[in-house]
Amino acid sequence: MSELGHASSVSRRSFLGGAGVAAGGVVLLGEARLAGAADEPEIVGPGSVAITLTVNGRAREVRVEPQVTLAEVLRGPLDLTGTKIGCDRGACSACTVWLDGAPVASCMLLAIDVGTRAVTTIEGLAQGDTLHPVQVAFIEHDAMQCGYCTPGMVMSCAALLQRTPQPTPEDIHTAISGHLCRCGSYPHILEAMQAASAARKA
Ligand code: FES
Ligand code: FES
Repeated sequence: MSELGHASSVSRRSFLGGAGVAAGGVVLLGEARLAGAADEPEIVGPGSVAITLTVNGRAREVRVEPQVTLAEVLRGPLDLTGTKIGCDRGACSACTVWLDGAPVASCMLLAIDVGTRAVTTIEGLAQGDTLHPVQVAFIEHDAMQCGYCTPGMVMSCAALLQRTPQPTPEDIHTAISGHLCRCGSYPHILEAMQAASAARKA
């Protein structure tokens, strides 16, 4: 079991507790916290607590301090560094993963709030050696330069194809609207998404 924590607990935790939103195109889920609002609140911390996360179909046990985000747990003790941290405050969507199939900004979600929901990261998107159609399209259409925004972008695009197999250009724009690409790869990303959509239709 791995352990993770850091010193900036109070500001991080109180910020996330009140935030509840992420960048456009990304939905931050806070149901676990909201659902329990009528009950007595469970007090955890300030020390580390044991949690089990289901990540890419595997149960992963970690010990985390309550202020630690899902992004930090993924990249730290779970060594899933495909998920990137850009702004660490919900503004760039580089950290996007799926929670029960929906894209979320993992820097805006406390690890202890994930509960039993299934986490899917970029490492879990391919089926063995077979890349997801969006991954294939990104490669074929050269839809990246430095690649830092790419994992999050791919996760949001793949989620869009799951819920809308034939997305319109507006659907694609909306899906990636919260994702910042400093390299300006947007035209190729849009081409890739249109190709992935066409390939799915075929
Ligand atoms: S939105 Fe999470 S790192 Fe920027
Ligand atoms: S490819 Fe460099 S930030 Fe998007």
